[in-house]
Amino acid sequence: MKNIKIGLFGFGCVGQGLYETLNNSKNFSGEIKKICIKNPDKARRLDPKLFTTQAASLLNDPEIDVIVELIDDADAALEIVTKALENGKSVVTANKKMVAEHLSELVNLQASTGQALLYEGAVCGSIPIIRTLEEYFGHEPLNEVKGIFNGSTNYILTKVFEENLSYEAALLQAQALGFAESDPTLDVKGFDAKYKLSILLTHAFGIHVAPNRIVNLGIDHLKASDLEYAREKRLSIKLIAQAKRIEDTVYAFVMPQFIKSDHTLTSVKNEFNAVIINGEFCDDQLFIGKGAGSLPTGAAVLSDISALSYNYRYEYKKHYNLGKLPFSNDSLLEVYVSFENPHEINLEDFESIQHKYFSFDHSYVIGKMCINNLLDEKWLNNPKNNIVLCAIGTENILGSLCVKGLNAEIEELKRGQQLLQKIIV
Ligand code: HSE
Repeated sequence: MKNIKIGLFGFGCVGQGLYETLNNSKNFSGEIKKICIKNPDKARRLDPKLFTTQAASLLNDPEIDVIVELIDDADAALEIVTKALENGKSVVTANKKMVAEHLSELVNLQASTGQALLYEGAVCGSIPIIRTLEEYFGHEPLNEVKGIFNGSTNYILTKVFEENLSYEAALLQAQALGFAESDPTLDVKGFDAKYKLSILLTHAFGIHVAPNRIVNLGIDHLKASDLEYAREKRLSIKLIAQAKRIEDTVYAFVMPQFIKSDHTLTSVKNEFNAVIINGEFCDDQLFIGKGAGSLPTGAAVLSDISALSYNYRYEYKKHYNLGKLPFSNDSLLEVYVSFENPHEINLEDFESIQHKYFSFDHSYVIGKMCINNLLDEKWLNNPKNNIVLCAIGTENILGSLCVKGLNAEIEELKRGQQLLQKIIV
């Protein structure tokens, strides 16, 4: 096996995890030649000669075969990755925001430079889901990919739900353990899970969907009364990323969901992630593994570097073999919406309402709503309101088309008929 020379960008939680896994691996033949960091004054336990602040000294070093990009800043990451590929180096990254937002151009860049870009560590930490989708499911039409894609929120929900820890204390723990992003709002508001879902849409269904087209709702507005409601009904709450193909259309979203206590996902706790794949031939398959943390994510990055040693690259099999499936938000979801002030919610946005409950300390509505409505700012991440929105179970009613326009047309027709009758009479 070739002795791979690595140029590493970033030495935070995942960078240090990579260093540990690389030095404790038995069959890996490679070494980190240089590490580019932003702040040279930070105390580090390695030889200072290993570090530099000069990106070019890695990107232009002909001895370096692979650039590993593990920094936070998605824009700077894109610059590094682009330059590295253009300079004839293969690249490994764990930056899900950068990959999700630029996947089309990164696929083209790989084709034009002939270099490979691997990013297993960007999606669900140690679960080898991208390679599984690429290699094992490359030719099987998939119906659904869903699961728990964010370790921090799963950790928080486990602690809050099962150990009665406060949300703030659980979030602090998730940060201290190195699970959360530097900006944890990306975790708790569902952005991180959405970037991962967007990447998996490419490998599972062959479509690139820009993250801003996918609805993401988080767990940051959950109240004690919502948790109590779930407990009473023997449900748990998990932040679920879900993509489903119905006939030839793909629907996808990230939001908290009520899950039955005997559902497999209920037993996935703390920083563990889970991915359920439903294929046309294989039916359901479940993958569970640590989705966050220094060593599990470092191990995923190391596995990618190792795969480069035998010239592995993603073939984007679904993309090139199956052609494109349209993506749509024009579908109904059954949702639970709790609120403090009835003026906060617009009942008009519901297609139909199954249940309304108003009391002094807990008010909620259960009804069917079009995913498209949720893209509206008044629902999505509006800091002024205190709305909790959960899909009802993972077996929600995805696929039923929104018919609001149709209803309006029917009303119009009825009015027309009444008018006509009056004229005839
Ligand atoms: N912040 C992420 C999570 C890290 O909590 O899942 C792994 O992508």
